[in-house]
Amino acid sequence: MKQSIKPSYILHKNFRLPMGFSPENFDYGLTYQAQARDTFIVTYPKCGTTWTQHIVWMLSHDGKPFPVGKNINLEVPHLEEVGSDFVKYLSETRFIKTHLTYDLTPYNPDSKYIYIARNPFDCAVSFYYHTKGFIKHYDFAEGTFDDFFECFINGEVDWGDYFDHLVGWVQHKNDKNVLFLTYESMKNNQKENIIAIAKFLGDRYLEKIENPQILESILYHTNFTSMSKNQSRWSSQRPANMTPFIRKGKVGDWKAHFSLSQTQRLSEKFRIRTVGTEAENLWEIPE
Ligand code: A3P
Repeated sequence: MKQSIKPSYILHKNFRLPMGFSPENFDYGLTYQAQARDTFIVTYPKCGTTWTQHIVWMLSHDGKPFPVGKNINLEVPHLEEVGSDFVKYLSETRFIKTHLTYDLTPYNPDSKYIYIARNPFDCAVSFYYHTKGFIKHYDFAEGTFDDFFECFINGEVDWGDYFDHLVGWVQHKNDKNVLFLTYESMKNNQKENIIAIAKFLGDRYLEKIENPQILESILYHTNFTSMSKNQSRWSSQRPANMTPFIRKGKVGDWKAHFSLSQTQRLSEKFRIRTVGTEAENLWEIPE
């Protein structure tokens, strides 16, 4: 029988971090004091972070797409990757990416938080290809989906347990400074969600998209096909034999990866962990 393989991580306090991440920056990131003009893009990994980073960047740049030759993570930085000093030196209206749970995310009642949730089945598949593809971060090039599934369902992956993240944030779904969206609704109705984001960010942004050319440009440049081009804008290079970072962008891709028993186990975990919360009815979960 083939031996199972696990991704490698930096074990830092209770966290698993990708190799190459700085535990010091992670700790500094947690100490960041959220400011009234900050907007956080909050996700569990692989739930639509980059897509949302690009939407907010375009909203704040008159509908211009993020330029080739630059990296969006320097302008909409990942808090726990770069640490708090990097973020403090950005312009005063800041967009900040984080994968932190609710309890750890820097809080200010005047800051804004855009949370994107994605069903755990597609998230697990996307996270598998991510982990396999970034060899320098995880050393998991030979890992199979079955190997990764065990880590995912046990919460033994970077940024921890999917359900801790979702359940912690869903309790704040209706807070006035939280906009809670799902990846699936962004796929089904991209325009409506871009408008919702602009509205949530405030009049300055809403006025921008009242210009049909700006709205059209955002719709076009943030769709899957456009974002699949010039991917060095979103992440570091991956080996040519691995799937690209912007990979498939589908709802339901999990059906081509999960066995019946994996489906049942994750469904069961979903039911146990979300019962009585607003996460319970976010998606149709298989039996
Ligand atoms: P898949 O691996 O299922 O294709 P994150 O940015 O949080 O790491 O999420 C990455 C996932 O979002 C990947 O999912 C990626 O393809 C998908 N994605 C990124 N941009 C997208 C877009 N414009 N439309 C749909 N999906 C997108």
